[in-house]
Amino acid sequence: MTGKGPDRAATNTYRLETDRLVLSVPSEEDAPSLYELVGGADREEVTAGLIWDGPDEISDTIGFIRQAQTDRFGEGGFHWAIYDKTGQSTGTQGTAMGMVGARPSDQPGRGDVGYWLGKPYWGRGLMSEALSAVLDLSFGELDHEKMEAEIFTNNPRSMRLVERLGMQREGTIRSSHLKRGRWVDSHIYGLLRREWRASRS
Ligand SMILES: CC(C)(COP(=O)(O)OP(=O)(O)OC[C@H]1O[C@@H](n2cnc3c(N)ncnc32)[C@H](O)[C@@H]1OP(=O)(O)O)[C@@H](O)C(=O)NCCC(=O)NCCS
Repeated sequence: MTGKGPDRAATNTYRLETDRLVLSVPSEEDAPSLYELVGGADREEVTAGLIWDGPDEISDTIGFIRQAQTDRFGEGGFHWAIYDKTGQSTGTQGTAMGMVGARPSDQPGRGDVGYWLGKPYWGRGLMSEALSAVLDLSFGELDHEKMEAEIFTNNPRSMRLVERLGMQREGTIRSSHLKRGRWVDSHIYGLLRREWRASRS
């Protein structure tokens, strides 16, 4: 590959596996659990760090799932549901616990990641595992040169996560987003392919 980046017309057919997780395109059967995790009692907390404020109705979740199933990489990027592979995390094998996505920028070979996990599953290293698999794919088969994450400055948990994965803070965008009526700042984190390869060897 030559750093041209992935085929922007491709839809997401990737199924990624880690020790504890399976990542694959969400199915409509996952709508109730995903909706409950990001639109239910924990909505405020789970979406505090997201640009998106969460679903109002389960039909919003179903709509997002359908979009993820048909989206081309060059349109919305690839989105994976994060499933409990063994049943150890949720008690039921195959339960959807959150989402992770990788989107291209206008520069071929440069992209960014976005992610959320249901609150009951925080603090067990699950998103590190999911994101590692997405970064492996991004820097491997998808041939990215650089992956980034934009993180609100009031989201230390997410900053710790990407720093553990080797991302470097590259700068701060002041008043980057209007979140629930208040302007928030964001840090931009970045990771180069050579840094990821060095950390994995
Ligand atoms: C940010 C978020 C994705 C982190 O998910 P997570 O699964 O807890 O993150 P990690 O995989 O990095 O897990 C790390 C935590 O698990 C602990 N842990 C336990 N077992 C672990 C293991 N085997 N490996 C690594 N960490 C482990 C770590 O000590 C760490 O604790 P800390 O967060 O207090 O430092 C999650 O809190 C979330 O979805 N938040 C709301 C949405 C959001 O803010 N998304 C990001 C937008 S930029």
